[in-house]
Amino acid sequence: MEEAAHRIAMISSHLHPSDIQQMERGSVVRRSDCRAKGGAPGFKVAILGAAGGIGQSLSLLLKMNPLVSVLHLYDVVNAPGVTADISHMDTAAVVRGFLGQPQLDSALTGMDLVIIPAGVPRKPGMSRDDLFNINAGIVKTLCEGITRCCPHAVVNLISNPVNSTIPIAAEVFKKAGTFDPKMLLGVTKLDVVRANTFVAEVLGIDPREVEVPVVGGHAGVTILPLLSQVKPPCSFTSEEINYLTDRIQNGGTEVVEAKAGAGSATLSMVGPTAFQNICFFPHIGQAFAAAKFADACLRGLRGDAGIVECAFVASQVTELPFFASKVRLGRGGAEEILPLGLLNEYERAGLEKAKKELSESIKKGVTFITK
Ligand SMILES: NC(=O)c1ccc[n+]([C@@H]2O[C@H](COP(=O)([O-])OP(=O)(O)OC[C@H]3O[C@@H](n4cnc5c(N)ncnc54)[C@H](O)[C@@H]3O)[C@@H](O)[C@H]2O)c1
Repeated sequence: MEEAAHRIAMISSHLHPSDIQQMERGSVVRRSDCRAKGGAPGFKVAILGAAGGIGQSLSLLLKMNPLVSVLHLYDVVNAPGVTADISHMDTAAVVRGFLGQPQLDSALTGMDLVIIPAGVPRKPGMSRDDLFNINAGIVKTLCEGITRCCPHAVVNLISNPVNSTIPIAAEVFKKAGTFDPKMLLGVTKLDVVRANTFVAEVLGIDPREVEVPVVGGHAGVTILPLLSQVKPPCSFTSEEINYLTDRIQNGGTEVVEAKAGAGSATLSMVGPTAFQNICFFPHIGQAFAAAKFADACLRGLRGDAGIVECAFVASQVTELPFFASKVRLGRGGAEEILPLGLLNEYERAGLEKAKKELSESIKKGVTFITK
């Protein structure tokens, strides 16, 4: 009887994380021992902002990722509901929910990868920079938690404005003495996914066959698609270059306006590439850019070779301290920052514009912490 009650308490414990700690004190099964059924080893991943538009779908996709053995879902609202829902999926990852600041440290302890889509999204007429005042503080608080509880985790930062939130995160980590530039990655994968889609439309080919490097940052003119380096090799007219560059740079605004106040891009980050290769369910070829990027980071952590993605990272590719470019992912995070390659005149002019705006956004982020 007592044993049955204990078993039921364990099963429902994901809804009440604070109870887990109490139980663990008197239990032979500790959370740290907890593995997916079948005992498959895997990575521990936390999503901060898991109840939001991006967070919920990202949680779903990571629950399906066989590289994930433990999935922690943290939010300031609705985390128990999302957790209960996701935890009923019959995939291997063990899911636990954490609600509100008092449970942040429990959500983060022991994590290998922390993904942050917490914060407000844009409404029509807003730039990503308009989100700064709210999101800067949120990112600061969450990153302080990371320094306390999992300072060696890879961090995928999604919250906008990424061009400023990455410098904020870096300053928080520096202050705590835990900054490893290779482990902090701003997620710009959506820009690449959009670029692949729009270029494929112009070329009339399958977007899965297209690879467009997108460098710089993650806002307006700082998003710089390198159309001269598209794979497969191709050429565009100057009208096509103007159209594509403008559409890739303003793809986010296209979604914000179409959603008319109901949020920004949450579902559009699709394209069957890396995620599909290792997915349990080969028919689910569409994955969030964020899920695909997280998957690439996990394959890097596993030691897979040749994982290259664009990301906004600490960089020496330009004179700026942070820049988005292709990076090689490995056990140590972004282990190598790849050079930009040859740029044409149009791209060189775009790079100068991008650097000017990026420089201001980076300064704004740094000042938020150091002021
Ligand atoms: N990098 C990119 O490519 C990209 C793309 C789209 C959106 N975004 C950005 O991602 C963020 C989230 O977008 P969304 O559409 O999911 O927004 P949303 O409003 O649907 O979800 C945000 C979630 O964050 C939670 N949250 C707020 N404060 C928090 C805190 N202190 N701790 C934990 N969670 C907290 C909210 O409760 C909510 O559930 C926005 O900043 C948006 O601009 C980035």
